[in-house]
Amino acid sequence: MKTDVLIIGSGIAGLSLALKLSVLNPALEIWIVTKAEASDCNTRYAQGGIAAVMNHVKDSYENHILDTINCGKGLCNKQIVEMVVKQAPDRIHDLIELGAKIDLKANKDYHLALEGGHSMPRVVHHKDKTGMEIERVLLDKIKAHSNIHLLTNALVIDLLVQSNKNKLHCHGVQVFDKSESEIWFFKSKVTVLASGGCGQVYTNTTNPEVASGDGYAMAYRAGAKLKNMRFMQFHPTSLYASTKEPVSFLISEALRGFGAYIVDGNNNRFLYTYDSRGELATRDIISSAIYKHMLANDMPFVYLDLRHLDLTLCKKEFPQIFAELKNAKLNPQCDLIPITPSAHYQCGGVVVDKNGQSSIRNLYALGEVACTGLHGANRLASNSLLEALVFAHNAAHKISRTKYSSLIKPDAAPTKTVKSYVYKRVKEHTAQLKNRMMNMAFEENPKALEFANAVTVSLITSIEKEIKLDAFSEELLTLRNLAQTANLIMADKLASYDIVKQI
Ligand code: SIN
Repeated sequence: MKTDVLIIGSGIAGLSLALKLSVLNPALEIWIVTKAEASDCNTRYAQGGIAAVMNHVKDSYENHILDTINCGKGLCNKQIVEMVVKQAPDRIHDLIELGAKIDLKANKDYHLALEGGHSMPRVVHHKDKTGMEIERVLLDKIKAHSNIHLLTNALVIDLLVQSNKNKLHCHGVQVFDKSESEIWFFKSKVTVLASGGCGQVYTNTTNPEVASGDGYAMAYRAGAKLKNMRFMQFHPTSLYASTKEPVSFLISEALRGFGAYIVDGNNNRFLYTYDSRGELATRDIISSAIYKHMLANDMPFVYLDLRHLDLTLCKKEFPQIFAELKNAKLNPQCDLIPITPSAHYQCGGVVVDKNGQSSIRNLYALGEVACTGLHGANRLASNSLLEALVFAHNAAHKISRTKYSSLIKPDAAPTKTVKSYVYKRVKEHTAQLKNRMMNMAFEENPKALEFANAVTVSLITSIEKEIKLDAFSEELLTLRNLAQTANLIMADKLASYDIVKQI
């Protein structure tokens, strides 16, 4: 198969790029390839919303820029931060024009929520299901574009890359068709990684099963430049469940903006000993404070306390969270809610410019998989959906303006049927890898990290041997990407120690 633009991933970044491109140039053939169903993506789980300055009397671009930079601990790219913050209102208007529901106050002003690290309320949202609403609208809208095609349940194995005049060029992907157990090649003039994050590398995560780091691993194997992978962000408040599900239920920061407390078993609001902003400090500070407090008190969780809030209003604003609490047989009027930090968002990734162009020609990266310079060491709450919208907009304009030569023709590669393969210990290795990464999440001892990394490297080596023998299963390919991403995270952390040592 071949196409003009091939997009890997069907979340906010991939879908909004496809829509914008199609409007700018309806003659382009656009394929969106996704390994599960179209709505299986991280976007759907985003509760908080989109940070934007919608009220220039009370707020300003300067405030949003400063909050983003402070949160990113000096590692943000200031020009990128300014560009994103200033585009935010336009990108929100785009969504509204498409039909996305956004909460308004009685006087028709935007209902703006407050989240950690923001100096004032500026999060545009739809109740506590903003991501779900955006995904609904975008999936609905692409149906009206006959040049946008959706291929579901197709797992991209790797990017097809050729070296030409000392420069790497991407000309498509290799796909594993799960139902036919076949591998085939899908050639494209432009390939876009919009494959989301990697929370599933850890035992505790707010990310769905599809977030297995595929984009980072593929980009690395193809030779793309990656950066800042050590900055995996943990969300402080996911619901603690004693039996581990693949996904920990997220309890939005906006609930703390609404007034919820974090307490320990003695009803002590202990966060104030770590940061004067207490519950409204940035999530890296809160997650690490909770982790230390749990360790010191030998507890697997602390609590969120809603008992003092106006619960009728709270339930109206956070219906999804209240439904989940009811499911878990927790009554916020009298019960404390057990919470624990969970892997939530990868701030690093594939290095791109302001248009989402990676270091490989004709390869773009958008959304969580990309490292744009917006987040630095730590992402400000509700800046991620915004980043995806802004970079998809810029990439659409860049791609639609570029004249692409006809497809570079790789050697004719026939479709091949692979040996269906059950990697005997794949489940066991996956669980061990996730546990290892969880233990390393807040680890500062380089020796412990070095050991965990070495075990992971040897796992990658044995998986690569199987892959070379054309022995495939979805589980094995997933473990391959999880392990590669884990290695990228640990190697980046170890490299940062070396820099410190050199200084
Ligand atoms: C949340 O609602 O707490 C998550 C929002 C985000 O990750 O920015």
